[in-house]
Amino acid sequence: MKGVKTVYICSECEYESAKWLGKCPRCNSWNSFVEDVVAKEGSAPTAVQHPSIVRVGENHASPFSELEATEYLRSGTGLSELDRVLGGGLVSGSVVLLSGEPGIGKSTLLLQICDTLGADKTVLYVSGEESRGQIKLRAERLQVHGNKLYILTETNLEHILEEAKKINPDVIIADSVQTLYSDHITSAPGSISNVKEVAMAFIAKAKSEGISVILVGHVNKEGGIAGPKVLEHMVDAVLNFEGDRRQSYRIIRAAKNRFGSTNEIGVFEMTDTGLREVPNPSEMLLADRPVGSSGNCAVCTIEGTRPLVAEIQALVTQTAFPAPRRTANGMDYNRAYLILAVLEKRLGLKFSANDVYLNVIGGMHLDEPATDLGVALALISSLTDRVIPDDLIAIGELGLSGEVRGVANVEGRVREAARLGFHRAVIPQHNVQSCEKIAGIEILPAKNVYDILKFLKPKAE
Ligand code: TYD
Ligand code: MG
Repeated sequence: MKGVKTVYICSECEYESAKWLGKCPRCNSWNSFVEDVVAKEGSAPTAVQHPSIVRVGENHASPFSELEATEYLRSGTGLSELDRVLGGGLVSGSVVLLSGEPGIGKSTLLLQICDTLGADKTVLYVSGEESRGQIKLRAERLQVHGNKLYILTETNLEHILEEAKKINPDVIIADSVQTLYSDHITSAPGSISNVKEVAMAFIAKAKSEGISVILVGHVNKEGGIAGPKVLEHMVDAVLNFEGDRRQSYRIIRAAKNRFGSTNEIGVFEMTDTGLREVPNPSEMLLADRPVGSSGNCAVCTIEGTRPLVAEIQALVTQTAFPAPRRTANGMDYNRAYLILAVLEKRLGLKFSANDVYLNVIGGMHLDEPATDLGVALALISSLTDRVIPDDLIAIGELGLSGEVRGVANVEGRVREAARLGFHRAVIPQHNVQSCEKIAGIEILPAKNVYDILKFLKPKAE
């Protein structure tokens, strides 16, 4: 085509290359290059020249002392788990990117919040993926009514903006940015230039008219789908919808939030009638725990302000390979290596002739060092085939010399464990004082990794 050229763009860092590259020279990601068609200089208008985002009116620098802090206007979405992650509700004039793998439940979640949002606000739900009939059917199943909810099945950006002008919505949901395209961009929908153009137009609309916009972005584990990554710096909040599609639990995590903390998570369960909130995730994570078997240990991690009790399982088996296998699911692989090395060196346990598999039950991802002690106990338990009592929970970080180091908010963690029916908590010696007053749970201090060995019991026959 005249006036256009084909380039390859890294979907992680937007590095541009004339040829396809396997590895990005700037950010070192693998297989991140996607083909894109861009306008040559001086031809078709580029994203920055788009009429919808050219600023009108004058703009001056103003003295800091004259600035006034804006009060955020927030609307409840009807799902308190989502509101918490958003920092207390959806902020007017903000742009939120909801990203996740296809089929994880993004459209379901957004249609569900239309029920509450659409009761008193005008909501425009734009779908580029499903027909009106499909959406209606799903909405009926999810019992979404929303008196002021409008559905538009359209993929052309200019058309969507025209419709939006007529309806004058308070909230726009665009599902998904990868299916929408602009007349100003010559490359295919889903290409980086199109995704950016579409997002920029919505951002301009949100900022100039105070509309809340939720953009849906599909991602896959390999990062092969272009888009959401390049939008992350443009939007106000990035929410990642995670979970194993084969399991029913779903977790929303804020990767970025200009209006709240990024530590909070929201937990949901996918049911026949849509996503159900799980206000008590620990109970869900501990359901169906095996009793009296080796290799299991309960741990407590803090997600945002909430302590969350989860279960770690370890399986240590004799290896049949020249190099033993190590697999860590739901936790940091390098952290697992480090704990194995500490146990080998400090306790003289031989893991080197064994395959080691570690798994966190329920599809959770634990990335807090406070779970180290639990991982260590689960590993020793599986290797020696001795059992960790079912009513025992382990909290603490493991240092390289085998010392058990103190962690933050042990009191909150122990309280949560006590609430869930645990009777014993192994905690760092350093933190004992803060937990003295907690009733119903025995505190077992550990100073060193040697101290935890005595908690393992021989397997009952
Ligand atoms: P969907 O919201 O379409 O995913 P995304 O928009 O992220 O691609 O969710 C799709 C999956 O959710 C689908 O496989 C079926 C399942 N699902 C339920 O289990 N129950 C429900 O009530 C709904 C609407 C979907
Ligand atoms: Mg969808």
